[in-house]
Amino acid sequence: MASRMALLCLLGLLVASPAIADSGIYYQLALMWPGAYCQQTNAGCCKPTTGVSPARDFYVSGFTVYNATTDAPVTGCNNAAPFDPNKITGVQGLYQYWSSIKCPSNNGRSNWKNAWKKSGACSGLEEKDYFEAALSFRSRINPLVRLKAQHIEPDFGLYGVKTIKNVFKAGINAAPVVQCSKGPFGKFQLFQLYFCASASGKFIDCPAPEQYTCSKEILFHPFQKWMLKQQLNESTAANPFVLPGVAVEM
Ligand SMILES: *[C@@H]1O[C@H](CO)[C@@H](O)[C@H](O)[C@H]1NC(C)=O
Ligand SMILES: *[C@@H]1O[C@H](CO)[C@@H](O)[C@H](O)[C@H]1NC(C)=O
Repeated sequence: MASRMALLCLLGLLVASPAIADSGIYYQLALMWPGAYCQQTNAGCCKPTTGVSPARDFYVSGFTVYNATTDAPVTGCNNAAPFDPNKITGVQGLYQYWSSIKCPSNNGRSNWKNAWKKSGACSGLEEKDYFEAALSFRSRINPLVRLKAQHIEPDFGLYGVKTIKNVFKAGINAAPVVQCSKGPFGKFQLFQLYFCASASGKFIDCPAPEQYTCSKEILFHPFQKWMLKQQLNESTAANPFVLPGVAVEM
Protein backbone atom coordinates (compact mmCIF):
# COMPACT_ATOMS: atom_id res chain seq x y z
CA MET A 1 0.00 0.00 0.00
CA ALA A 2 2.76 2.43 0.96
CA SER A 3 4.55 1.74 -2.30
CA ARG A 4 1.35 2.15 -4.26
CA MET A 5 0.90 5.57 -2.66
CA ALA A 6 4.49 6.42 -3.45
CA LEU A 7 3.86 5.67 -7.08
CA LEU A 8 0.76 7.82 -7.22
CA CYS A 9 2.78 10.67 -5.79
CA LEU A 10 5.50 9.96 -8.23
CA LEU A 11 3.04 10.41 -11.04
CA GLY A 12 2.01 13.70 -9.54
CA LEU A 13 -1.52 12.56 -8.81
CA LEU A 14 -1.28 13.01 -5.08
CA VAL A 15 0.33 15.55 -2.80
CA ALA A 16 3.12 14.04 -0.73
CA SER A 17 2.34 13.38 2.88
CA PRO A 18 5.10 13.32 5.50
CA ALA A 19 4.56 9.60 6.06
CA ILE A 20 5.40 8.83 2.46
CA ALA A 21 8.38 11.15 2.38
CA ASP A 22 9.69 9.06 5.27
CA SER A 23 9.66 5.72 3.47
CA GLY A 24 13.43 5.49 3.68
CA ILE A 25 14.25 5.24 0.00
CA TYR A 26 14.99 7.48 -2.94
CA TYR A 27 15.26 6.84 -6.66
CA GLN A 28 18.03 7.47 -9.13
CA LEU A 29 17.26 7.72 -12.82
CA ALA A 30 20.11 7.35 -15.30
CA LEU A 31 19.58 8.97 -18.69
CA MET A 32 21.95 8.15 -21.52
CA TRP A 33 22.71 10.36 -24.49
CA PRO A 34 22.67 8.00 -27.52
CA GLY A 35 24.90 10.29 -29.61
CA ALA A 36 27.76 9.67 -27.19
CA TYR A 37 27.03 5.96 -26.94
CA CYS A 38 27.11 5.48 -30.71
CA GLN A 39 30.32 7.50 -30.98
CA GLN A 40 32.26 5.81 -28.20
CA THR A 41 31.26 2.18 -28.68
CA ASN A 42 33.54 0.12 -30.92
CA ALA A 43 30.66 -2.00 -32.15
CA GLY A 44 28.64 1.15 -32.87
CA CYS A 45 24.94 1.23 -32.14
CA CYS A 46 22.18 -0.77 -33.74
CA LYS A 47 18.57 -0.21 -34.62
CA PRO A 48 16.34 -2.17 -32.23
CA THR A 49 14.41 -5.12 -33.65
CA THR A 50 11.15 -3.81 -32.20
CA GLY A 51 10.24 -2.00 -35.40
CA VAL A 52 9.73 1.17 -33.35
CA SER A 53 12.17 4.03 -33.90
CA PRO A 54 13.89 5.11 -30.71
CA ALA A 55 13.45 8.81 -29.94
CA ARG A 56 16.16 11.32 -30.73
CA ASP A 57 16.44 12.08 -27.07
CA PHE A 58 17.96 10.82 -23.81
CA TYR A 59 17.06 7.21 -22.98
CA VAL A 60 16.46 5.65 -19.60
CA SER A 61 19.50 3.50 -18.87
CA GLY A 62 18.80 2.73 -15.24
CA PHE A 63 16.26 3.27 -12.49
CA THR A 64 17.67 2.35 -9.10
CA VAL A 65 16.20 2.36 -5.63
CA TYR A 66 18.50 3.60 -2.85
CA ASN A 67 18.32 3.19 0.89
CA ALA A 68 18.14 6.77 2.23
CA THR A 69 19.97 5.82 5.44
CA THR A 70 22.91 4.02 3.91
CA ASP A 71 22.88 5.54 0.37
CA ALA A 72 23.39 2.00 -0.91
CA PRO A 73 21.25 0.54 -3.67
CA VAL A 74 18.47 -1.66 -2.35
CA THR A 75 19.24 -5.03 -3.91
CA GLY A 76 18.81 -8.72 -3.34
CA CYS A 77 15.18 -8.95 -4.33
CA ASN A 78 15.75 -10.68 -7.66
CA ASN A 79 13.79 -13.72 -6.69
CA ALA A 80 10.91 -11.80 -5.15
CA ALA A 81 9.11 -11.23 -8.44
CA PRO A 82 10.33 -12.75 -11.68
CA PHE A 83 10.35 -10.51 -14.75
CA ASP A 84 7.32 -10.99 -16.96
CA PRO A 85 7.70 -9.27 -20.37
CA ASN A 86 3.95 -9.48 -20.95
CA LYS A 87 3.28 -7.09 -18.09
CA ILE A 88 4.97 -4.17 -19.81
CA THR A 89 3.89 -4.57 -23.43
CA GLY A 90 1.45 -1.67 -23.14
CA VAL A 91 3.76 0.76 -21.33
CA GLN A 92 3.75 4.01 -23.25
CA GLY A 93 7.10 5.29 -24.45
CA LEU A 94 8.98 2.15 -23.44
CA TYR A 95 10.28 1.42 -26.95
CA GLN A 96 11.04 5.07 -27.69
CA TYR A 97 12.64 6.14 -24.41
CA TRP A 98 13.98 2.96 -22.85
CA SER A 99 15.34 1.39 -26.00
CA SER A 100 18.38 -0.76 -26.32
CA ILE A 101 20.58 0.40 -29.19
CA LYS A 102 23.30 -2.05 -28.29
CA CYS A 103 24.66 -4.20 -31.13
CA PRO A 104 23.71 -6.69 -32.33
CA SER A 105 20.18 -5.40 -32.80
CA ASN A 106 17.91 -6.62 -30.05
CA ASN A 107 14.40 -6.13 -28.73
CA GLY A 108 15.43 -4.51 -25.43
CA ARG A 109 13.97 -7.26 -23.32
CA SER A 110 17.17 -8.31 -21.57
CA ASN A 111 17.76 -4.66 -20.71
CA TRP A 112 14.38 -4.37 -19.01
CA LYS A 113 14.80 -7.72 -17.33
CA ASN A 114 18.12 -6.64 -15.83
CA ALA A 115 16.65 -3.37 -14.58
CA TRP A 116 13.76 -5.23 -12.98
CA LYS A 117 16.00 -7.84 -11.36
CA LYS A 118 18.57 -5.32 -10.19
CA SER A 119 16.24 -2.73 -8.75
CA GLY A 120 12.64 -2.98 -9.83
CA ALA A 121 11.84 -6.02 -7.76
CA CYS A 122 13.15 -4.09 -4.73
CA SER A 123 11.18 -0.94 -5.48
CA GLY A 124 7.97 -2.08 -3.86
CA LEU A 125 6.25 -1.23 -7.13
CA GLU A 126 4.43 -3.57 -9.44
CA GLU A 127 6.41 -4.33 -12.57
CA LYS A 128 4.37 -2.12 -14.87
CA ASP A 129 4.32 0.71 -12.32
CA TYR A 130 8.09 0.56 -11.96
CA PHE A 131 8.65 1.08 -15.69
CA GLU A 132 5.97 3.74 -15.89
CA ALA A 133 7.47 5.57 -12.93
CA ALA A 134 10.88 5.74 -14.62
CA LEU A 135 9.39 6.97 -17.88
CA SER A 136 7.25 9.49 -16.05
CA PHE A 137 10.36 10.89 -14.34
CA ARG A 138 12.08 11.06 -17.69
CA SER A 139 9.29 13.02 -19.26
CA ARG A 140 9.06 15.41 -16.30
CA ILE A 141 12.78 16.10 -16.66
CA ASN A 142 12.50 16.31 -20.45
CA PRO A 143 16.24 16.88 -20.66
CA LEU A 144 16.79 17.63 -24.32
CA VAL A 145 14.01 20.20 -24.51
CA ARG A 146 15.28 21.93 -21.37
CA LEU A 147 18.83 22.02 -22.67
CA LYS A 148 17.85 23.23 -26.12
CA ALA A 149 15.79 26.03 -24.60
CA GLN A 150 19.09 27.28 -23.18
CA HIS A 151 20.86 26.81 -26.52
CA ILE A 152 22.71 23.71 -25.36
CA GLU A 153 22.41 21.42 -28.36
CA PRO A 154 23.97 18.24 -29.71
CA ASP A 155 25.95 20.12 -32.33
CA PHE A 156 29.58 19.22 -31.51
CA GLY A 157 29.66 22.38 -29.37
CA LEU A 158 31.46 22.62 -26.04
CA TYR A 159 29.30 23.42 -23.02
CA GLY A 160 30.14 24.03 -19.38
CA VAL A 161 29.25 21.22 -16.97
CA LYS A 162 28.12 23.90 -14.51
CA THR A 163 25.93 25.51 -17.15
CA ILE A 164 24.30 22.15 -17.86
CA LYS A 165 23.65 21.50 -14.17
CA ASN A 166 22.21 24.98 -13.73
CA VAL A 167 19.65 24.39 -16.47
CA PHE A 168 18.11 21.66 -14.31
CA LYS A 169 18.64 23.45 -11.02
CA ALA A 170 16.55 26.26 -12.46
CA GLY A 171 13.99 23.94 -14.04
CA ILE A 172 13.34 21.12 -11.57
CA ASN A 173 15.25 22.48 -8.58
CA ALA A 174 17.75 19.62 -8.64
CA ALA A 175 21.08 19.32 -10.40
CA PRO A 176 22.03 16.10 -12.17
CA VAL A 177 25.27 14.24 -11.79
CA VAL A 178 27.07 14.46 -15.13
CA GLN A 179 28.97 11.47 -16.48
CA CYS A 180 31.35 11.99 -19.37
CA SER A 181 33.08 9.64 -21.73
CA LYS A 182 35.99 10.04 -24.10
CA GLY A 183 34.70 11.71 -27.23
CA PRO A 184 36.20 12.83 -30.52
CA PHE A 185 39.01 15.42 -30.82
CA GLY A 186 40.41 14.26 -27.46
CA LYS A 187 37.47 15.91 -25.67
CA PHE A 188 35.25 14.64 -22.89
CA GLN A 189 31.65 14.37 -24.00
CA LEU A 190 28.28 14.34 -22.31
CA PHE A 191 27.34 10.69 -21.84
CA GLN A 192 24.85 10.28 -18.98
CA LEU A 193 22.86 12.40 -16.56
CA TYR A 194 21.77 11.01 -13.19
CA PHE A 195 18.77 12.49 -11.43
CA CYS A 196 17.45 11.65 -7.99
CA ALA A 197 13.96 11.89 -6.58
CA SER A 198 12.55 11.25 -3.15
CA ALA A 199 9.99 8.51 -2.61
CA SER A 200 7.29 11.18 -2.97
CA GLY A 201 8.53 12.02 -6.46
CA LYS A 202 10.18 15.35 -5.64
CA PHE A 203 13.47 15.89 -7.45
CA ILE A 204 16.45 16.24 -5.13
CA ASP A 205 20.20 16.57 -5.54
CA CYS A 206 21.58 13.03 -5.37
CA PRO A 207 22.58 12.53 -1.72
CA ALA A 208 25.71 10.48 -2.42
CA PRO A 209 26.73 11.38 -5.94
CA GLU A 210 29.21 9.24 -7.81
CA GLN A 211 32.21 11.27 -9.01
CA TYR A 212 32.90 11.14 -12.73
CA THR A 213 35.77 12.68 -14.63
CA CYS A 214 34.75 15.46 -16.98
CA SER A 215 36.51 18.58 -18.16
CA LYS A 216 35.00 21.98 -17.35
CA GLU A 217 33.58 22.13 -20.83
CA ILE A 218 32.29 19.03 -22.55
CA LEU A 219 31.29 18.15 -26.06
CA PHE A 220 27.66 17.49 -26.93
CA HIS A 221 27.80 14.95 -29.74
CA PRO A 222 25.08 14.89 -32.41
CA PHE A 223 22.76 11.92 -32.67
CA GLN A 224 21.29 11.08 -36.05
CA LYS A 225 19.11 8.11 -36.74
CA TRP A 226 21.44 6.95 -39.50
CA MET A 227 23.99 6.22 -36.77
CA LEU A 228 21.85 3.22 -35.82
CA LYS A 229 23.10 0.37 -37.94
CA GLN A 230 20.88 -2.28 -39.35
CA GLN A 231 21.75 -5.67 -38.00
CA LEU A 232 24.63 -6.96 -40.07
CA ASN A 233 24.67 -10.68 -40.63
CA GLU A 234 25.59 -13.04 -43.42
CA SER A 235 22.39 -12.58 -45.36
CA THR A 236 22.17 -8.77 -45.10
CA ALA A 237 25.88 -8.37 -45.87
CA ALA A 238 25.36 -10.36 -49.05
CA ASN A 239 22.32 -8.35 -50.08
CA PRO A 240 23.39 -5.65 -52.56
CA PHE A 241 20.32 -3.53 -51.76
CA VAL A 242 21.23 -3.02 -48.13
CA LEU A 243 23.96 -0.50 -47.45
CA PRO A 244 25.71 -1.46 -44.22
CA GLY A 245 25.55 1.36 -41.71
CA VAL A 246 22.74 3.18 -43.45
CA ALA A 247 19.29 2.73 -42.02
CA VAL A 248 16.87 3.41 -44.84
CA GLU A 249 13.47 3.48 -43.23
CA MET A 250 13.55 5.03 -39.77
C1 LIG B 1 18.21 0.77 5.05
O1 LIG B 1 19.34 0.29 5.73
C2 LIG B 1 19.14 0.17 7.13
C3 LIG B 1 20.50 -0.18 7.77
O2 LIG B 1 21.05 -1.34 7.14
C4 LIG B 1 18.06 -0.86 7.38
O3 LIG B 1 17.83 -0.99 8.75
C5 LIG B 1 16.77 -0.41 6.68
O4 LIG B 1 15.78 -1.41 6.81
C6 LIG B 1 17.03 -0.16 5.22
N1 LIG B 1 15.85 0.43 4.61
C7 LIG B 1 15.31 -0.03 3.47
C8 LIG B 1 14.11 0.71 2.98
O5 LIG B 1 15.79 -0.95 2.84
C1 LIG C 1 19.90 -12.06 -40.76
O1 LIG C 1 19.09 -11.02 -41.25
C2 LIG C 1 17.91 -11.44 -41.89
C3 LIG C 1 17.23 -10.24 -42.50
O2 LIG C 1 17.10 -9.19 -41.57
C4 LIG C 1 17.04 -12.20 -40.87
O3 LIG C 1 15.86 -12.64 -41.50
C5 LIG C 1 17.82 -13.38 -40.32
O4 LIG C 1 17.07 -14.02 -39.32
C6 LIG C 1 19.15 -12.91 -39.74
N1 LIG C 1 19.95 -14.08 -39.37
C7 LIG C 1 20.55 -14.17 -38.18
C8 LIG C 1 21.38 -15.39 -37.98
O5 LIG C 1 20.47 -13.32 -37.32
